[in-house]
Amino acid sequence: MPQDAPPIQLASGEPSPAGAARTVKVWDVPTRLFHWSLVALVATGALTGLFTPEWWMGVHVWAGYGMVGLITFRIVWGVFGPEYSRVVSFVYPPRSTLEHMRGLLMLRPPHYVGHNPTGALMVFALAGVLIALVTTGLLALGGEEKQGPLALVVGYSLGSGAKRVHHALTQLLLLMSMLHVAGVVTESVLTGDNLVRAIVTGWKTLPPEAPHPTPRPARPWAAAALTAALAGCAALGIGWVARQPPPHGLRAVPRNATYDKECGTCHDAHAPSLLPAASWAGIMLGLQDHFGEDASLPPETTQALAVWLVGSAAETFDTEAANRFRTVAPASPHRITATPYWVRKHAEIAPAVFKRERIKSRVNCSGCHRDASSGRFDDQAITIPEG
Ligand code: HEC
Ligand code: HEC
Repeated sequence: MPQDAPPIQLASGEPSPAGAARTVKVWDVPTRLFHWSLVALVATGALTGLFTPEWWMGVHVWAGYGMVGLITFRIVWGVFGPEYSRVVSFVYPPRSTLEHMRGLLMLRPPHYVGHNPTGALMVFALAGVLIALVTTGLLALGGEEKQGPLALVVGYSLGSGAKRVHHALTQLLLLMSMLHVAGVVTESVLTGDNLVRAIVTGWKTLPPEAPHPTPRPARPWAAAALTAALAGCAALGIGWVARQPPPHGLRAVPRNATYDKECGTCHDAHAPSLLPAASWAGIMLGLQDHFGEDASLPPETTQALAVWLVGSAAETFDTEAANRFRTVAPASPHRITATPYWVRKHAEIAPAVFKRERIKSRVNCSGCHRDASSGRFDDQAITIPEG
């Protein structure tokens, strides 16, 4: 630490009496709000991503949107915020970082007013992982669930690849968050400077020798203008994507009155995107012995329905359900409810639940999935009826 630091400034701008410890304002209100809001959103995202049932996905997604907003704001504030919030104030040369790490090992880390060099490395790493997390989250949401701003531009396979990366990054973020907390506790103990209290109250107590140059003030109007401009661009971009026609694999299949009448009396008229073409062809060829029932139809009706079903089969759609149900069980290729994905997704539902009055059978998907007729099967559209 340089011993010939310029006269130390108090937060009020008064020089401190030589040799006295003093308190300085380090973290401004926006930076503290950012920090604790981010903690709350990461906790919400982790809980709803790892533990809650699928229909909480809406909360998970909003936590993610909240993070996009917070990170964007923090980057802007990293340029226009006051001294210690500015990114340039915690970009340290490798020499200082090594010196700080060596100090940590010797249990005497040098004092820093804002982020210390090791802490700053963690801040950049956490920011990088968070940005990667929200990016892969948006890709998975758009590609797999066909929701969010990327729904029309990202295909299922890219989305499901992104989801795997998203899961791995979740583990990494949780590990890094623990390291971050451990680092804060260690640094607080070694320097006698309570870093947790500092990010709550904004104030730090500094030893007399710690340098504290006159802080650069914030430029809140520039920050507000840039944030507003970025939000405007995002809104325009999302509006533009929303006006584009859905790609082929997401088209809405118009209702087919004959299908609803002939195949919707004994059970739900299943969306054609829920089985591959070969399965539909097999079902239509065997209607006289249809799961133990005679469901036969006049040949021309059978023919017309077969053509319609095959033309809108799972292969022609890019929804998650269509992609998953393309893999049928070899022993019962005509059953959606026998596909490995269906079995896995419904394994925890007791058989008695499917017998409830408002469902009657597991083949009546609309008993629990409000959007069953569209073939989408969104997480947010699931409700298990009580009676
Ligand atoms: C006379 C009543 C009846 C009619 C009409 C009928 N089905 Fe079925 N269907 C059944 C029965 C019974 C099952 C087996 C239900 C069960 O396992 O609970 C079944 C099962 C199915 C399944 C498999 C569901 C699963 O995933 O387990 C499909 C697909 C299906 N039917 C399609 C059709 C189509 C297409 C038509 C119109 C051409 C049709 N059904 C007309 C009675 C009927
Ligand atoms: C008793 C209610 C019930 C019925 C009937 C039912 N499901 Fe489900 N389904 C659920 C629940 C609950 C989940 C969420 C499971 C979980 O949390 O993983 C689910 C999940 C799914 C998913 C995954 C959604 C996603 O994005 O993760 C698909 C696809 C699906 N069901 C399709 C079907 C189809 C097709 C049928 C009819 C053949 C059907 N379900 C019948 C309750 C039901």
